[in-house]
Amino acid sequence: MNKSTNQIRQDFLNFFKEKKHVIIPSSSLVPNNDSTLLFTNAGMNQFKDIFLGLKKTKHARVTTVQRCLRTGGKHNDLENVGYTHRHHTFFEMLGNFSFGDYFKKKAIMYAWELLTSKKWFNIPKHRLWITVYEHDDETYKIWNQTIQIPSERIIKIGDYENHKYNSDNFWQMGDSGPCGPCTEIFYDYGKNALNSSSEFIKNENHRFVEIWNIVFIEYNRISQTQIISLKQKSIDTGMGLERISSILQNVNSNYNIDIFQTLIKSISQFSKVQDFNNISLKVIADHIRACSFIIADNIFPSNEQHGYVLRRIIRRALSHGYKIGIKQHFFYKLVPNVIRSMGISANILKDKQKKIEDVLKSEEMQFSKTLEKGLQVLNKEIKNLDNQILPGEIVFYLHDTFGFPSDLTEDFCREKNIKIDHDGYQKAKKNQKNQSNLKKPFYKNYNNNIFFNDSCIFEGYQKHKTKSIIKYIFVKDQSVLNITKNEVGIIYLDKTSFYAESGGQIGDIGYIYYKKSCFIVEKTKKYGNTIGHIGKLISGTMTVNQSVYNKIDKLYRSSVSLNHSATHLLHAALRNTLGDGVVQKGSFICNSYLRFDFSYSKLIDTFHIQEIENIVNVQIRNNIFIKIKEMSFEEAKTKKATALFENQYKSTVRVVFISNFSIELCGGTHAKRTGDIGLLKIISQSSVASGIKRIEAVTGQEAINYFQKQDNNIQDISFMLKVKSFDMKEKIKKLIHQIKYLEKKIQEFQKKENTHQVKTLSNNAYDIQGTKVLIHTFYNYDHKSLRVISDQITEKLKSSIIVLVNVTNNHFNVITKVTKNLINFITASSIINMIVTKTNGKGGGKKHIAEGRGLNINIIPEILQNIKIWINKKLKNK
Ligand code: SER
Repeated sequence: MNKSTNQIRQDFLNFFKEKKHVIIPSSSLVPNNDSTLLFTNAGMNQFKDIFLGLKKTKHARVTTVQRCLRTGGKHNDLENVGYTHRHHTFFEMLGNFSFGDYFKKKAIMYAWELLTSKKWFNIPKHRLWITVYEHDDETYKIWNQTIQIPSERIIKIGDYENHKYNSDNFWQMGDSGPCGPCTEIFYDYGKNALNSSSEFIKNENHRFVEIWNIVFIEYNRISQTQIISLKQKSIDTGMGLERISSILQNVNSNYNIDIFQTLIKSISQFSKVQDFNNISLKVIADHIRACSFIIADNIFPSNEQHGYVLRRIIRRALSHGYKIGIKQHFFYKLVPNVIRSMGISANILKDKQKKIEDVLKSEEMQFSKTLEKGLQVLNKEIKNLDNQILPGEIVFYLHDTFGFPSDLTEDFCREKNIKIDHDGYQKAKKNQKNQSNLKKPFYKNYNNNIFFNDSCIFEGYQKHKTKSIIKYIFVKDQSVLNITKNEVGIIYLDKTSFYAESGGQIGDIGYIYYKKSCFIVEKTKKYGNTIGHIGKLISGTMTVNQSVYNKIDKLYRSSVSLNHSATHLLHAALRNTLGDGVVQKGSFICNSYLRFDFSYSKLIDTFHIQEIENIVNVQIRNNIFIKIKEMSFEEAKTKKATALFENQYKSTVRVVFISNFSIELCGGTHAKRTGDIGLLKIISQSSVASGIKRIEAVTGQEAINYFQKQDNNIQDISFMLKVKSFDMKEKIKKLIHQIKYLEKKIQEFQKKENTHQVKTLSNNAYDIQGTKVLIHTFYNYDHKSLRVISDQITEKLKSSIIVLVNVTNNHFNVITKVTKNLINFITASSIINMIVTKTNGKGGGKKHIAEGRGLNINIIPEILQNIKIWINKKLKNK
């Protein structure tokens, strides 16, 4: 009997446990502290610093089952999902790792034993083919001589266009980071491997399927052109669980393995589709797994970064649901099926099931409102196409207006054999971005993805100014030796007083200077273990290896620190008032305000908001000394310190004590005493995702500014109302009452005026062969009354054509009515068209009634004259 996927996963771990590997849990899908990577895309990610020699490891051999997501960056499979047999957004990667322990020979021997021995996977040897990096003779020999694979089944893979280390058999994590040559093991389905009839799968190789990649990590890629050797050689291997299962279960597609089939079956029950090979069923099955795990790792749908990727995947799944006729909200209902199908890997989902379902449900409710409308627009545009290419502006319009990510539009078009104009889409997107970028500071456009095998000592807890040495300068993503006046760039120092953006706290600003040379630091960010000072040189020059001073803006730092300490107080006050269910979900702390996101199901009422403010302000007035101590993580736990993402903390942690009121693990900067904060005021509360609330607050001078602004407003209003501020409420009530009364009176007058107009205008209508024609222009008339008047006149005149225009300031509105007996000769919509096309306007309607509006009021008399002539002619020729 075939092994289940859950059994295969377990066998893999057991095998490597026997080979003295320690089983380590999968890390989160969101890599900690790594700006080069949005999502975990390989088993080796969590060990990146160990490979680079920046971190020590307790174990020289480990094995993992890592949850991975490939939807962006160097490894992106999203568009292929559903259309091929083997692509996924989310998948599990089985891996074994050696850090400076065994190398090529043993890694290859282990892989061979697991795959081919009877005790384990028992794959016939002749089915396995090997690829090696062309210049890696050592690996070739191991396969050929030690393992005895005949040379015709070992394929050498070279570099693309002779670019060294640019090959399918040279693995790299991303544009920077650990890398090295690799050898891959392929499974051969045989010469007669079925070629799928689906044309979307035509590019997929059905005969040879890559199952295992063994990477010999020997280098660190610094930038596109620079690669350096690592001191220690390591092994990183990766085998997709879903792929190996498809082979061991003897099915030709990952989607046919047991865990996917269970899922696909449960999805099919929501639709009428019973063909389990249906592309949409596969897309949804893949996407519900991805979404469940992403949310379990605390990512929520948003328009940025991780949240946007999640949103794109959800929307793609929902659109495929719509396509196969699912009319109800269904996506969130699949979560229990994912949990049931995935064995021990689903443990992380179990505790969070309700949260995952809530988030998916609320996103589904939101998107389903625009999905149908967006598809209508898309279908209409497709019908009107002259060729098989959908213009980029339309792709952008769908994105901007209906929230259709471009890949979703592409998906729909693909099945109709239509391509989308990617360049045009990018251009439309850029145009919009350029508009908003005009206001942004210069560094926003500065993209740096460089990771350094280096570190910078942060001295900024104690010092505001440090003497340091420039280690690197980057200008336009290139490492340079000098930076000159007016150039924008990033300076890396050996030590610094600048706090780099992290833990929700914004980075410092300030200066790097020496004699007459001065670099303004606008932003400070972490790159790996080093710190980048981003800014602009405003005088002199600066050179690598030069001594400089770096000095932070003290006032700015102190405002940020006050807000950081206030955030700790707010966090504790929220938990005191609302209970331990309040868990921090994110924060942003800058010099002007603080933002705090936390789990809580409903919006907090005013009473409780004020209570929370009072609790915080009492602690501020108590002027407590803020104590910061370093200790072991274990000791911090005994002190009941609040820790955010546990696995992020190292063995020694920094704990911030505000007496016993708040004890939190934190790497940020803080005020000396709570009294320094002065005052805290909550200025807004909102809901950012299902079950997640956001509070924004101000402190110190900003809080005083806030109250003063409010007070000024009240004084202005009291002056305008001519009453004292305490009497304003009563006065406003009275005014509202009065306005209502006056509105009613106006309506009555308007009605009388309309009746008078109906009478006069009916008399002014002229007659052509028994049909009454009325063309009239009002000036500043009540816009809503036009319809009423035109209805009443039509009723009175019977067979008639009416055109009523109302000119107000610099635009006009028009309504046209044609009685039904005439619509075969003249229609209301054609009259409206004649008016709006010439007046830069818009309008439309039916044959008997149509409306429009426009701008060129000066040519209205001429247009109406022409319409009159045209109507007369038409009626005479009737
Ligand atoms: N890092 C390699 C890969 O992802 C092997 O684990 O293919």
